[in-house]
Amino acid sequence: MRISVNDITVSYTDEGTNGAPALIFLHGFPLNKSMWNLQAKALEDDYRIIACDIRGHGNSGSGDQDFSIELFMSDLIALMDALNIRKTALCGLSMGGYIALRAVEDYPERFDALILSDTTCIADTSEAKEKRMKAIESIKKSGMEQYAGESIKNFFADESFTARVDEIAAVREMIVKTPEQSLSRTLLALSVRKETCSKLPAIKIPALILVGKEDKITPPSAAQFMHEKIKGSSLHIIEHAGHLSNLENPGEFNALLKKFMAVYKQTI
Ligand code: MLT
Repeated sequence: MRISVNDITVSYTDEGTNGAPALIFLHGFPLNKSMWNLQAKALEDDYRIIACDIRGHGNSGSGDQDFSIELFMSDLIALMDALNIRKTALCGLSMGGYIALRAVEDYPERFDALILSDTTCIADTSEAKEKRMKAIESIKKSGMEQYAGESIKNFFADESFTARVDEIAAVREMIVKTPEQSLSRTLLALSVRKETCSKLPAIKIPALILVGKEDKITPPSAAQFMHEKIKGSSLHIIEHAGHLSNLENPGEFNALLKKFMAVYKQTI
């Protein structure tokens, strides 16, 4: 489905049970909404499930504005307005988590549960910023296939390279299908994003924090830090998974998500 939001067209899915509590999924970089297919399937009997392509990714438009976490957040709020969703549970993985953390900080009244998966509240270090600039150069010079190959090495746990061959192929396709311009614009946006750690104690809604045991990009220590700062949050380290824990161990990921959502559902 497509809808006009801010200055772009957003591609999204809106499935599941009409009138049930809503759950919105935000994907990681440089992926798209299809990374949530297994979670949508697992939860659609009990919830209204929305997954959207973030600006510049999947089938959503890019627009002319400079990309930023704030712009992605503004697209999310505008999408919620357009879909008539006053309040929702929100689940973000990695970049999706950066957006989710910014959104619950700026619009606390719009969210009543938060799932943070393989993400962090810290801003880029100068070393991380430098890596992003090098990645922009390397995409220009060596192209998307090479960039996809390098990204995939870091995304998955070692064991996934034999156990999750189809998922790796799907992720490679998501990356190479992302327009080159979007990759560079998003890398810049990620490099200048602000920290959200100082705002974590203000989060008062139920929060579930998930992280793959072998996540090399946003490791379990980053999840532990957020868990300590968000009062009442629960933390689970997912076995047999790296950075893309929902794809690498969907069984454990979905069971934890379902359990969390069932408790949350009773409170609303
Ligand atoms: C992601 O999965 O969204 C990225 O790894 C985030 C990042 O590069 O900071």
